[in-house]
Amino acid sequence: MSVEDLPWWKKGIVYEILVRSFADSDNDGIGDIRGIIERLDHLNDGTPRSLGVDAIWLSPFYRSPMVDCGYDVADYYSVDPAYGRMSDFDELLSECHRRGIKVIIDMILNHTSDEHAWFAESRSSRDDPKRDWYIWRDGRAPGKPPNRWKAVVEGSAWVFDEMTGQYYYHAFLPQQPDLNWRNPEVRKAMFDVCRFWLDRGVDGFRLDLVNFLHEDERLRDNPRKVGWRTYEMQRHLYDRSQPEDHEVVRELRGMLDSYPGTMMVGEVYTDTSKDAADYYGRGDDELHLSFYLDFAEAKWSAESFRRSVDDYERMMPKGAWPCYYLSNHDLVRHVTRLGKHGDAGARARVAAVMMLTLRGTPFLYCGEEIGMPQGRIPRQRLKDPIGIKWWPVPVGRDGERTPMQWSSERFGGFSEVEPWLPVDGSYTRTNVASQDSDPGSLLNLYRRLAWLRRDRPSLHAGDYRPLDVRGGGVFAYARELGEERVAVFLNFKPGRVVLEPGSSGLGEGPWRLLLSTRADRVTGAEVGAIELGPDEALVLERA
Ligand code: GLC
Repeated sequence: MSVEDLPWWKKGIVYEILVRSFADSDNDGIGDIRGIIERLDHLNDGTPRSLGVDAIWLSPFYRSPMVDCGYDVADYYSVDPAYGRMSDFDELLSECHRRGIKVIIDMILNHTSDEHAWFAESRSSRDDPKRDWYIWRDGRAPGKPPNRWKAVVEGSAWVFDEMTGQYYYHAFLPQQPDLNWRNPEVRKAMFDVCRFWLDRGVDGFRLDLVNFLHEDERLRDNPRKVGWRTYEMQRHLYDRSQPEDHEVVRELRGMLDSYPGTMMVGEVYTDTSKDAADYYGRGDDELHLSFYLDFAEAKWSAESFRRSVDDYERMMPKGAWPCYYLSNHDLVRHVTRLGKHGDAGARARVAAVMMLTLRGTPFLYCGEEIGMPQGRIPRQRLKDPIGIKWWPVPVGRDGERTPMQWSSERFGGFSEVEPWLPVDGSYTRTNVASQDSDPGSLLNLYRRLAWLRRDRPSLHAGDYRPLDVRGGGVFAYARELGEERVAVFLNFKPGRVVLEPGSSGLGEGPWRLLLSTRADRVTGAEVGAIELGPDEALVLERA
């Protein structure tokens, strides 16, 4: 396959938008779809003055009671009034497409909200035709749930429902009852939802908890293991990653294959990376991309990132394409994670180079391009049910969901009124407007990298070859396509490193400097010995 024929989701950069926190067009304190339309120039205006993203992933925008930030869907065929109307969605879609930006939407197949009409019916009586759309069982004994399965957010995964005297199952929150994927009507209903959005023109889906669809038919208990929280005290043999999930993914893949140019990326929530790799199927019949949690959780060292990348390259079936992320709406923002023991600013720059030069599709999370830190939220303003219930450990996920910091104006230019979550105090310094005009800013580094990646086929399509650098502390790799060779050196140490040509693994030169995370380097210059400053990243090209 020639580079031109590579699908967009291999070549491109995807940007996750948390709709609620991106931009508020109607000043009610909540981000909305029109807000996104107004900010599209930031994402891609067709020139290197913008971030140059190829696709956006929209967090759930469907009608929802918003117990779980919209991951509790009450109607899959709607737009929540807080976010706008269906006509706004259509306009966003056509505005994006006009600019060459693809749109993928979050699809929550595992569960609905308990306010979904299907659940209301299912709950109403044991004889209701939709009873079997959810998972209802008798208890083992009075007051005892059907088995010992735990919900991801702690406690029993079963809720006793007085109305009909049975328990229903929920892998996540009690307000998110699991659909019964063994029921063919459920399968059809959810596939209809997917088709509805594909027909409307979306370019694919981000599949929520895709390995949670089926549970063991006999509801066998999971073996116990040592862990901190009740969910971690079980080996999840029977309540997730069941073989039947793969069938659903294959069927969906078949559907997407009939809409050329669409793709699906899946969240495989598991503690074994092998599981995530397994959802690529044979490499071309299941997920197009499978999020790789191990990379996002790697600790800040050259060795752990290299091991993580090399493992994934090895685990994936032939033909599968990796994808990487460091931040999202469920994880502590990486600039805060990285800053614990070092210079967060410099490390975030190294991380940006790594994200945008590895072989694989990078998923950026809104705000990471300006180094937005984790927000600090007073307890009384928490919104995430995990934080509300368990604060201070865990604190919940609100910290990574604070409003986008557009400018140093009040409320960070996100809204003219107090937003749903407080804007982090860093907004006066860390914001899009101030970084836009500063050539040395993180934002401008992301832009340079994104456009460099677009410009160099080896960077968006080439092979990945790790380079064995002597001495440790440096993660280095080459990206190669035909005659084109680019090499990347990432110094994870706070000290200077000098690599003589023989110890850098580079091979034949001459090489010239394409990009450095340091402002004082002259790009274009020929490089002999490779000298890396503390926490510095370099991108070289064979001259
Ligand atoms: C996924 C989402 C998360 C949500 C959960 C339940 O993990 O990323 O935000 O709370 O699924 O739908």
